Amino acid sequence: MDKRTVLETVLRDEIMQLLSSPALDCIRETVQSENVRAYIIGGYVRDLILQRTSSDIDIVVEGSGIDVAEKVAEKLGVQVNVFKNFGTAMLRTREMEIEFVGARKESYRRESRKPIVENGSLEDDQNRRDFTINALAISLNRADTGSLVDPFDGIGDLERKLIRTPQNPDITFSDDPLRMMRAIRFASQLNFSIVDDTFEAIQRNAGRIEIISGERICDELNKIIMSEKPSAGFELLEKSGLLKLIFPQLALLQGVESKNGMKHKDNFEHTLQVLDNVADRSDSLWLRWAALLHDIAKPATKKFDETAGWTFHGHEFIGSKMIPGIFKHLKLPLNDRMRYVQKLVLLHLRPIVLAQEEVSDSAIRRLLFDAGDDIDDLMLLCDADITSKNRKTVDRHLANFQLVRTKLKEIEEKDAVRNFQPPVSGEIIMKTYGIGPGREVGTIKNAIKEAILDGIIKNSYDEAFQFMKAEAEKLGLKQAQ
Ligand code: CTP
Repeated sequence: MDKRTVLETVLRDEIMQLLSSPALDCIRETVQSENVRAYIIGGYVRDLILQRTSSDIDIVVEGSGIDVAEKVAEKLGVQVNVFKNFGTAMLRTREMEIEFVGARKESYRRESRKPIVENGSLEDDQNRRDFTINALAISLNRADTGSLVDPFDGIGDLERKLIRTPQNPDITFSDDPLRMMRAIRFASQLNFSIVDDTFEAIQRNAGRIEIISGERICDELNKIIMSEKPSAGFELLEKSGLLKLIFPQLALLQGVESKNGMKHKDNFEHTLQVLDNVADRSDSLWLRWAALLHDIAKPATKKFDETAGWTFHGHEFIGSKMIPGIFKHLKLPLNDRMRYVQKLVLLHLRPIVLAQEEVSDSAIRRLLFDAGDDIDDLMLLCDADITSKNRKTVDRHLANFQLVRTKLKEIEEKDAVRNFQPPVSGEIIMKTYGIGPGREVGTIKNAIKEAILDGIIKNSYDEAFQFMKAEAEKLGLKQAQ
């Protein structure tokens, strides 16, 4: 048996197993009794062949998808959501989410991605899809149940790991410019290549991305960031010309300048390497965003000093200030996720400084206080930030960070400042001195916090209370009776 036949046999078994599930069995029976033709189509078929798990099934019906969905929902005893404007209907069983749509023939207007939709055949519908690997269909019809309809050799492209449009790529991308991002996202997610003429069309049509909403672009960016090796996707975004349009601040990191024989590193390449390093160790989207943004202010802070060479002083501070603008522009959430990224960007040099110096307990305490529960993520980012090609340098830095970690653990066990709560509250201060809220309470609270962080007093109620008394005296406060 050749390779292809083996694949088809394995696939046939999987397809038959899928079609015998209660929901699909019911759909098949309905389609056949209603005398319409229907197919499973798109991403589900692709993922089935790639053996990726997916629970979203799209069914395309040559006729009314809504009618079939309503009949199926009635038989299965589940709710159906109908979207009349789009001609689609969705129902949810315990195992899957199934969307029904009528087969379409679409043409698009240049100024908008809202298509003019006409009813069409399966062939029309496959023709308007984005990539050959997303145009595969499985028949649910009596005559050929379970057979694959693959007019563009999508199976071949899955085997060869290729992203290719089924039609002239200029038309496919101009129909829906988001597909340019999708091509790069699939390449990054699946570790596929984009065939030359499809990629060249992305380069030619990149400017059309402007008609796509920020939210849809952001979804694709997040999927690229979550892929196993996100640098692959960002390199393609850069090469295609899309990056400078959708995320100019990141594109600006690119390039190396040389003066008096001194060069700085390419901050784009470095950032992507840090992102890959973090991706190897963590599935957190926001930690990955922090990696992508940790050096974002390097272009804005770059200076050349005759003796020190290239410097980027304050890039961590300016970078953290740039985050809200970037999040807003990219339609990312302006909430605690954003503040987490800001915090990691702001603090990303602190452990490096600590690792270089004789580490004082007070510096460690301050880092614990500032990072709080995000200290482990910060340390992971710092490890990932070591991208030297010299193994000895890498090992030295890693060993230094290990030392910082040991110190952090010791101090936290001793002083518990990671989630610092003032041992003497504002209420106690006000009650003790018979005063209301105001500047004095803040001054005393801050002095107590600083004394604890500097190791002058212990993080305990008794020592803090004594310290409060001394501070209050300096302010001329008298204890209330
Ligand atoms: N599709 C398309 N053009 C788009 C979006 C989607 O042609 N801009 C088609 C593709 O055939 C795709 C199907 O619609 O397979 C379903 O789209 P979607 O659910 O967005 O993506 P999936 O391919 O299922 O992949 P994922 O779930 O990873 O997004």
